[in-house]
Order: sequence, then structure tokens, then C-alpha cells
Amino acid sequence: MGSIAASVKPHAVCIPFPAQGHINPMLKLAKLLHYRGFHITFVNTEHNHKRLLNSRGPNSLDGLPDFCCETISDGLPPSDADAAQDIPSLCESITKNCLLPFCNLLSKLNDSSSSNVPPVTCIISDGGMTFTLKAAEQFGIPDVLFWTTSACGFLGYTKYSQLVERGLVPLKDASCLTNEYLDTIIDWIPGMKNIRLRDLPSFIRVTNSNDIVLNYLLNELKGVFKASTIVLNTFDAFERHVLDALSAILPRVYTVGPLQLMTDQIPNDGLKSICSNLLKEEPGCIGWLNSKQPNSVVYVNFGSTTVMTKQQLCEFAWGLANSKKTFLWIIRPDIVTGDSNILPPEFVQETKERGMLASWCPQEQVLKHPAIGGFLTHSGWNSTIESACSGVPMICWPFFAEQHTNCRYSCTEWGIGMEIDSDVKRNEVEKLVKELMDGEKGKEMKKKAMDWKKKAEEATECGGSSQLNLDKLLNEVLLLK
Ligand code: UDX
Repeated sequence: MGSIAASVKPHAVCIPFPAQGHINPMLKLAKLLHYRGFHITFVNTEHNHKRLLNSRGPNSLDGLPDFCCETISDGLPPSDADAAQDIPSLCESITKNCLLPFCNLLSKLNDSSSSNVPPVTCIISDGGMTFTLKAAEQFGIPDVLFWTTSACGFLGYTKYSQLVERGLVPLKDASCLTNEYLDTIIDWIPGMKNIRLRDLPSFIRVTNSNDIVLNYLLNELKGVFKASTIVLNTFDAFERHVLDALSAILPRVYTVGPLQLMTDQIPNDGLKSICSNLLKEEPGCIGWLNSKQPNSVVYVNFGSTTVMTKQQLCEFAWGLANSKKTFLWIIRPDIVTGDSNILPPEFVQETKERGMLASWCPQEQVLKHPAIGGFLTHSGWNSTIESACSGVPMICWPFFAEQHTNCRYSCTEWGIGMEIDSDVKRNEVEKLVKELMDGEKGKEMKKKAMDWKKKAEEATECGGSSQLNLDKLLNEVLLLK
């Protein structure tokens, strides 16, 4: 692995979809490119830039001279709220408002009289930000689309029109939300074996075909099909059948994950300090884990966007308490819809010796910690792949988007997950947590998770599939003159 020997560096402008689960993998890809000799401009929205500064202080973005941050407006009214934005409003606004400021930024970067950075040579944009394709065309540079979630979820999205033709979606009305209907087996998607309707991404299982997020996604997918190059944060062995099916319908697909393992190999401390946490990490989680026995702690975290009712929060709480297991539970301040996230005082009292509660943590470090025995997760793609490459089995409670597909693959294809009913009940939480930590199924899942960890390491070491794909991406697309 080496950097590029050239007097003028290639310059990649990286622009993630403005949400935590998208910014994290994009930052990792940007770091990899920087390590391979690129000048990087990383573009956040003004709203998220403010949140980054709040979470880490002004030094968080001081990286290196050739790793720069820029901002554009997302077009929504400015807000002081240190919170994730409403996704439908954000989608609508991005479509209408982001192209112009993005083009202005590219012009500014290319203007040698006002900027001392190399001319922009490529755009790396989230697969949900395909307005950038127009900018790339205008500036005559390649635009590589990075689809940050799973290949299996992506394949699911591409089947929307076939689902419509077969009359399966849009769901006619709420009566379709019965288990019987959602359990309809779909056996005609190449690369997906016997998936149920409920396992396909929630955004395409809507009742209204005018749904904002559905239409945003369908438009973005059109862009993805037009693009010449797609990058995925997965590895070949993990999603082989799905990737074969995708390669048959898409242009060039480069799998370069797990990005966590790829970036772990970068020996540059300057880069390590550039981070993408929109929420403030609570100190003390790792210290607390250091005092625990190996494989003894259940880690509970539902990511950056999942919300639940107060009742569901209580069911998780009492399920955990009744399992008698030690746990680290991350509860975001805004996790409960329209209510406070305060737990019953009896629960806090009963579990104070064996439970740690925090509002945000360094998840990758937590998952790698030897004390962690299992992960109760919402099956976000980053959480899923971070867990798999750390050898940690999961209990899956998918919330939305392709998390249902990730859950299905975790449980049935990879053998590293157990699904929990969406109508969560404390008895089931207790039973599954005990099984995860002590049961035969738990042991089997742990073994499989360790196998996947090894395979992920193989993919990301020198000569592994993801390293070779990164080389190809550079040589076939990003460094072409
Ligand atoms: C989601 C999901 O990825 C995806 O299913 C959906 O399509 C869009 O975005 P999110 O719900 O936040 O994102 O979940 P996840 O993909 O798991 O990403 C969360 C990221 O935040 C992970 O990289 C995780 O390591 C990090 N994190 C989470 C922390 O660093 N600390 C925490 O306490 C929680």
C-alpha cells in the first residue's frame, strides 16, 4: 500500500447523506483515499457541522492540511436543536436545494485565485445524494456513488416495481399489516432465498405510493442505475449471492468493507483524530467494561434514528433486568417518541450493580471489547457489519429502512442473529438475552460470528478481496486521467 507519487494530488470531494449512519462510513472511505494520496474535501451540511462542533468542540475538525471540511446548506430553516432532522423534510429539501450550493462549492475549490487546493478530480457521493451526478457531468469529472448500507437491502429496493406488478405493494391498507400477509414468501428474487415480504426494506412496503421517502428512494435508485460506479461497505464472502445478482443488473460494483477493518490499518494518528460523532460520547464506558469478565456483558444500542414508545423502553428494561445479565445500555436523549426517556426508578435501583446506562458511546471500541458477549441492536447496517467483524452475535429488533433485510440475513444467512418481535415483550427479551449469553444457540451464533470476523479480516488484509477492490477502484476509476 502506498501513496501516489505526483506533484499535484488527486482531489476527492466526499459528500455523505446528512445522517450519522451515512456520515460514519463516508468518513472512513475518505480516510482510506487520503491514505492512498488524495487531497480530501469532506462536505457536511451546516446543521450537522454545528452538531459535530457541539459534540467534540472546535478541534474535532482540525485534521490535516490535505483533509479539509466544507459545508453546504441542506435548505431547511436553520435550527439550534442538536438533534437529527426529520427524514422526509430532509429528503425533499435535498432534492430541491442542494445542487446549486454544491456546484458553487466545486467552483470555489477549482478557482486557483481563491483556493490553494488541487483541482477537484472526482466526487464520492452517497447513493442517496444523486443530485451530485449533475454536478459531476457539469464539471466533467467522475462521480462514484457510495451506497452505505447492505447489498441485500439494496437488492431489496431494486425490486419495488416487480413487487408493484405482482400486487404485493403498496400495501392496500392497514389490514395488510397482519403477520399472515407480511409472511408471504418471495421466492423470485435472484440472490435472495425465500425472503418474506416483511424482510424487505420498510420504505418500499408503504400503503401510499406518494410517500415522500419512497419516492425519494426511487429517484435515487434511478441515479444509481445511471452512475458508472457503485461502492459498497461489505465484503464478497459475506453477501456473495446478493452481489452476484447485483452485478448482473448494475454497472461496476466495488465492495471495500468492512471499512472499519480497512481504516484500522491506517497508521496515521492525525487521521484518527478526525471523527464524525454528531452526539457527545459519554466517557467511562470502556473503563467500566475493563472491569468486566470476558463475554459477560450485553451491549444494547439502537443507533442514531430508532425511536420507540415509553412502553417498549420499559419492556426492554424489565427484560434486561429479569435476565440478570450485566449490560451496557445506550439510551439517546430522544429515543422515546414524544416522551422522556426516563426509566422506571425500580429498574434503575434493581440493576445499578450490573448495568451501565449512557447516552452515546464509542461503539466500535465497545464491540471490540472482550467483555462484550452479545449485542441487542436495531440492525442498522453499520451496527451489523461492525458487530460481525468484531465476532459479536446479535438479538435483532429492526426499526425501519433496510434494517429488516439486515436482520433477516443476520438470522438466516449468516447465523449470527435472533429476531425479536416488533411488539416487544419483556419475557421474550429475557428469554433471548439468556439464550444469547448462555444458551446452545448463543454458543453456535458466537462461533459463526467468530468465523465471519476471520473472513472479514481475510477480505481486508493485503491481497484480500476488499483491498484488491479498492486498488481496482483507484486504477479503473479514480486515478484515470
Ligand atoms: C441508519 C442505518 O444504517 C440504516 O439502516 C439506514 O438505512 C440509515 O441509517 P443508524 O440507525 O444510525 O443508521 O444505525 P447504524 O447503521 O448502525 O449506524 C450507527 C453508527 O453510529 C455506527 O457506525 C455506530 O458505530 C455509531 N454509534 C452508534 C456510535 O458511535 N455510538 C453509539 O452510541 C451509537
